[in-house]
Amino acid sequence: MHGTMANLVRTPVLEYYKGMLSTIKENIHLFRYEKNHDDLFEGCWPINRGVSINSYFVKGSSKKVLIDYVEAGASFDDDLSQLGSRLEDIDILVLNHMEPDHTGALSTLFARNPQIQVYATRLGATETETLYGYKNVHVITNGEELDIGGMTLVFYATPNIHWPDTMMTFLKEEGILFSCDAFGAFGAYQSVYDDELTESEWALLKTETERYYANIVASFSSFVLRGINALASLPVKTICPSHGLVWRKDPGYVVSWYARMAGYAAGEREKEITILVSSMYGNTLSYISALERMAKDAGIVTHTVRIPDINASYAIEKVWRSKAFIVAAPTYEKEMFPPMAHCLDWLVRKDVKGRISMHFGSSLWSGGASAEYKAYAEKMQLDVVDTFDFRGKGTAEDRERIMNAFRTVIEKVRED
Ligand code: FEO
Repeated sequence: MHGTMANLVRTPVLEYYKGMLSTIKENIHLFRYEKNHDDLFEGCWPINRGVSINSYFVKGSSKKVLIDYVEAGASFDDDLSQLGSRLEDIDILVLNHMEPDHTGALSTLFARNPQIQVYATRLGATETETLYGYKNVHVITNGEELDIGGMTLVFYATPNIHWPDTMMTFLKEEGILFSCDAFGAFGAYQSVYDDELTESEWALLKTETERYYANIVASFSSFVLRGINALASLPVKTICPSHGLVWRKDPGYVVSWYARMAGYAAGEREKEITILVSSMYGNTLSYISALERMAKDAGIVTHTVRIPDINASYAIEKVWRSKAFIVAAPTYEKEMFPPMAHCLDWLVRKDVKGRISMHFGSSLWSGGASAEYKAYAEKMQLDVVDTFDFRGKGTAEDRERIMNAFRTVIEKVRED
């Protein structure tokens, strides 16, 4: 029987876990939707440990405001009705950026509430019309204030964190920063606030924040640092991002964490080595455990990521933080093993630059992986210690060459 097109196309999963409503302060509420774990974020990143889409409802005495919305297929009707409100009652919708995980359901909202006034940047206004045909958009100016009755919203343009239209919204009286995607994380947490996290949730947060940053934000790291500096003088008591946790106990922690991850782009990185390995029949793979041992003996942490068994999302996360990464990949039809080439292509696209690196891999006839690695290394401006294709299982001399090169990588990683 022949397969049909429908069998070949991944159908997005639009079923949601129940929305979770939390009250952050009187008249300030969080609506939190957890995407289905089988879905792919942005159509490419695994979220098998979940991700929440956060929206905020701020009820001033004169205006009701939603800050960010939700993707197509979800709604906040239940959450709003618990608070005695309806979509039709909302006066203002602040769109901190227009990515459809936060705006996909706007057609429904605009149909039910055609008078609602959107607040966005100039680019956000254009996108609102392009994507949803909606024109009632107030274009914010940087630092503009809006009195909603007993509370004041202040808007700050923070372009390219990570979309060009991005802005953040500050609730002056409470010191709450609605930070859009900045300071967000993958992962689903029972806890709403940083001070509620269990030990296992902290462990999840550690990797899922770094994976989120490396996958979604890393390419815009210079803008992240610029944004953090620009907002440094704000008296922020609580950070409310559009994914992940609300930071009320120690918002400075996540700001410092983001600054550190942004710093990995061009500055100091962790003295760790990520080992990316692909293997067809075990020849290339056979060298990895010796490398891991050598690093361990030297007190250096390694992260081994097997490609394509592990999604490139995780490789990007580990490479982003590491001072060095190793590419162990064989030749396939005169070129690099394609899943590894795909992974290296992702690293180039995510603006990975300047790491210490080396490559080796098995080949039987022509070789070819090394030549392709050199091209990627040039694009990433890597400090290449060695690269070569060996025959079959490799000789004792090949093994010696790999071990010597890796020893040099370790020495370079240890240097300040
Ligand atoms: Fe969570 Fe850039 O959207």
